[in-house]
Amino acid sequence: MSTSLSNNQLAALAARYGTPLYVYNADRISLQYEYLQEAFKGVNARFFYACKALTNISILKHIRSLGCNIDCSSVNEAHLALRAGFDPGNILYTSNGIAFEEIEEAAGSGININIDSLSNLEKFGKKFGHSYPVGIRLRPNIMAGGNLKISTGHEKSKFGIPIEQLDEIVLLVKQYNLHIAGLHIHTGSEIKDVAVFMKVAGLFFDLVPHFPELRFLDLGGGFKVPYRDDETGTDIQLLATSVNEVLLKLQTTYGKTFQAWFEPGKFLVSESGTFITKVNVIKENKTTTFAGVNSGFNHLIRPMFYEAYHKIRNISNPGGPLKKYTVTGNICETDTFAGDRELNEVREGDLLVFDNAGAYGFEMGSNYNSRYLPAQVMVRGGEDHLIRKRDVFEDLLRNQIELD
Ligand code: LLP
Repeated sequence: MSTSLSNNQLAALAARYGTPLYVYNADRISLQYEYLQEAFKGVNARFFYACKALTNISILKHIRSLGCNIDCSSVNEAHLALRAGFDPGNILYTSNGIAFEEIEEAAGSGININIDSLSNLEKFGKKFGHSYPVGIRLRPNIMAGGNLKISTGHEKSKFGIPIEQLDEIVLLVKQYNLHIAGLHIHTGSEIKDVAVFMKVAGLFFDLVPHFPELRFLDLGGGFKVPYRDDETGTDIQLLATSVNEVLLKLQTTYGKTFQAWFEPGKFLVSESGTFITKVNVIKENKTTTFAGVNSGFNHLIRPMFYEAYHKIRNISNPGGPLKKYTVTGNICETDTFAGDRELNEVREGDLLVFDNAGAYGFEMGSNYNSRYLPAQVMVRGGEDHLIRKRDVFEDLLRNQIELD
């Protein structure tokens, strides 16, 4: 099973499908999932793919075929998951800031739900009482994650019910005889330090006695993946061992077993993805050489939005001399993928590829500047499949109503 695509394979795909192009190596997704399974062997844990990272239906089907569960952040994602064939019991909907009607709709499909506000918890209690087991999303007041925009557990974060409101939660649970099956705490994305997960797990000790029907403790997602060559990701094996210790300790303390739930997004799909662009223009001036590609932040927003780093490679000239380039997009405002980046000499027409682009790449894309969304290709067992066509002009007008 090949888990990284060669330059020749990528160039052939670019020739076949055109650029810009997202390519996903399904075998790499399988490998990431197997790695989790192996590390957590013997640990009472369950994994839900946080599909906001990448929702293409063929990718979802591939992930289902691995036996993985799925986590959704909108009711539409839950419908996509059902369409991809996931059983309702294997779908989790971790809501935030949504109208109660959306929760009702999700409950209509029988999927697992985490509720993140007191008001929706109360509405849920009124409507379902004890009949529908549900989870509660808590805000632990812990600052963690790669940058502020992707930190969700701190005390200014909109996510979850602040943990200091535990008394109010408990009152509602009693008042409506709610069946609280789980507690959920997700502190953010790109959490390298296992100690953060352990800090969260530690919070459960005081929470568990308030909810006698608890079955699962959901530690969210956020496992770090290495974006730079010198970075390392979350130590998954250490995480598994540490979580197991907590589960065993909870068992001895409270005389019952709990299951740990996780919602990895990036970990499963980020490294499977490569984004291929073509160089439109080289512009040189006194201080900077720009390599302008046929894409922009409308296709990969992470560098502009989070100042995120993506490794860029010139696969058309891998042996060329190293020079510094500022790689820019074609969107009509500041649109920089990388500043003063060393690349093998870049010529107009060369293919520049962005690694680690599987998660939150295409998914956060838009038609800004009336540009087309790129095509998506999945490579599985050495065979490539188009899984989303590139937009065409009509797509730009779809849903518009043209008045005279
Ligand atoms: N669970 C919950 C409740 C989440 O909010 C998220 C991500 C995840 C799981 C999955 O996190 P992951 O394993 O993918 O780190 N667009 C940003 C990341 C935003 C993450 C939003 N929530 C980026 O490109 O870095």
